[in-house]
Amino acid sequence: MPAPDEVRRKAEALRAEIRRHDYLYHVLDRPEITDAEYDELFRELVSLEGAYPELVTPDSPSQRVGAPPAAEFRPVQHSLPMLSLGNCFSEEGFVEWVERVRRILGRDPSGYVCEPKLDGLSVELVYEDGVFVVGSTRGDGRVGEDVTANLRTMKQVPLRLFPHHGRLPALLEVRGEVYMERGAFLRLNEDRARRGEPEFANPRNAAAGSLRQLDPSVTATRPLKLFCYHVGRVEGITIESQVQLLRTLPELGLPVNPLWKACRDRDEVVAFYAEVLAKRAELPYATDGVVVKVDLFSEREVLGEVSRAPRWAIAYKFPAAEAVTRVREIVVQVGRTGALTPVAVLDPVEVSGVTVSRATLHNEDEVRRKDVRVGDWVVVRRAGEVIPEIVRVLPDRRTGGERRFRMPTRCPSCGGPVTRPEGEAAHRCENVSCPARIKESLRHYASRRAMDIAGLGDKLVDRLVEGGLVRRIPDLYRLRAEDLVEVERMGEKSAHNLLQEIERSKGLPLARLVFALGIRHVGERAAELLAERYPSLAELAGAGIEELQEISGIGPQIAQSVVGFFRNEENRRLVEELAACGVAPRGERPATGPLTGKVFVFTGALSFTRAEAEAIVRSLGGRVASSVSRQVDYVVVGKEPGEKLARARALGIPVLTEGEFRALTGR
Ligand code: IVH
Repeated sequence: MPAPDEVRRKAEALRAEIRRHDYLYHVLDRPEITDAEYDELFRELVSLEGAYPELVTPDSPSQRVGAPPAAEFRPVQHSLPMLSLGNCFSEEGFVEWVERVRRILGRDPSGYVCEPKLDGLSVELVYEDGVFVVGSTRGDGRVGEDVTANLRTMKQVPLRLFPHHGRLPALLEVRGEVYMERGAFLRLNEDRARRGEPEFANPRNAAAGSLRQLDPSVTATRPLKLFCYHVGRVEGITIESQVQLLRTLPELGLPVNPLWKACRDRDEVVAFYAEVLAKRAELPYATDGVVVKVDLFSEREVLGEVSRAPRWAIAYKFPAAEAVTRVREIVVQVGRTGALTPVAVLDPVEVSGVTVSRATLHNEDEVRRKDVRVGDWVVVRRAGEVIPEIVRVLPDRRTGGERRFRMPTRCPSCGGPVTRPEGEAAHRCENVSCPARIKESLRHYASRRAMDIAGLGDKLVDRLVEGGLVRRIPDLYRLRAEDLVEVERMGEKSAHNLLQEIERSKGLPLARLVFALGIRHVGERAAELLAERYPSLAELAGAGIEELQEISGIGPQIAQSVVGFFRNEENRRLVEELAACGVAPRGERPATGPLTGKVFVFTGALSFTRAEAEAIVRSLGGRVASSVSRQVDYVVVGKEPGEKLARARALGIPVLTEGEFRALTGR
């Protein structure tokens, strides 16, 4: 039955209303309604669209995620080239630029506009009659990659623009920067490290890697943000200056960095530069300078461009937060997956307020490329102002006594052979019983989001492994109080508490155990999906690749990794031994109760542990998920919640405080 006109109108009205609230929340940061009210609107829309699927429009707020993975990115030609910027690194350099502008114009420009320079990935979004049609990366400036489906998943990217003075531009090619905030970047890396996935070197790489994903559902989980600052072709509205542009874009619904300033003369520019430099550390994103632009587009036309950079703009860079120090040693760390990472141990030195004494060198190729030797003087910097890295060596300061680094052929921890698998950058220790790998595996196994064994901290793990008390995970379950007291010289009470924690871990749900095993690419969400499908670890161990891939949310990479893990004899023995020790949770039919079918997500610090929260929810028939998706019914928010809260709001999922959760569950 076709939708009656009145339903059609209602759906349109709801979409407009939701778009407005998305905009107030994500672009202006000034919500007007409560989460519950927003949620109600979203639900109403989803249910109307569910009842009348022909009402679903591609620009509906309900349609952000859902495009299937692509095989490759289609090339997109930019109708006007996306230029790069010239740089200057000092006030003198900046003044030279001003002088040149003045020479060409024959007078001072009418004014400048300054904006912080964000280090991300520049993109172009094309809107036709107000509807988002194509989004692309800069590429080589003329041809970029089609990342439309990925950009659509970003809450800050409007799928439809708001009319400006009652009109929508017939065409708007808007340009801006996709970036990741520092905090979000660090959290993302933590998650990746936990899953044995390579970490991103800096927020820029993280943003680029997240946007250039063939599977848009991966992009959807990444905390990407956008600031717009430039346009290509514009039709149907008139924009004549940068000031006008930066005022118009937000009215159309596009996010603009509020930290911009119109400056009348170069002294005001220099003052703004100093102001941003002073604030730099407090800004949520990394910035490496200020972009100064001539305000009037008519003056820009006179100035033109040289070698693909406009004469009307310049990147006035901040002095890089760098310092010079010496490489004392290059050590090799062995991670949970056996990957060997060379790390430079440095004479401690301060870089923009933080003492740096180690810098990762990633892998052997990186050491070669930079030619870092033990004893070298090097320039260090915090990449994206976050992770310390060696920028370059100062070869003039070499004395001849420096030592080249060679990747060991034997694992520094166990002495086992080291291999470098075809096509991989990392060397690996293949010994699954390597103490370094075991320590990392145990740390992961005991971590809060895995088996949550409080009291089994880093130091104790070291001592247990080094003392020979624990060689493999199942050994944990064979520990006796006497051993701990004698061998570890632990107090009786601590020993008792630890054993109790270890015992308690046996009762945790299967999903946690699957996650705790540290199978490559199997994060919390994948572990949940696997545990829902297979009632026991033994059954999961027997699953084939195709069968695994039938589970929605499990792709080829995860399936491959799971099968590979259980194919390994050592790992199969691990499963058997765990079961023999009483660690054999069953993906039991969930209890039924008042929360049957309800899915909860927890974020931020709460007064109970994740394991406890999960137990409460399960006992009432509900389920706990680790990430916010449309399938989630409630997000429970503690202190300092993360991105999950924003995502919950965007999806219109009800948000509960801890008190409300307790009231709901009667705890
Ligand atoms: S304007 C030709 N404004 O810097 C003028 N660019 O080094 C177009 N960038 O490719 C660019 N923040 O990715 C402009 N506020 C800002 C910017 C900015 C960062 C990036 C952009 C550009 C690169 C050039």
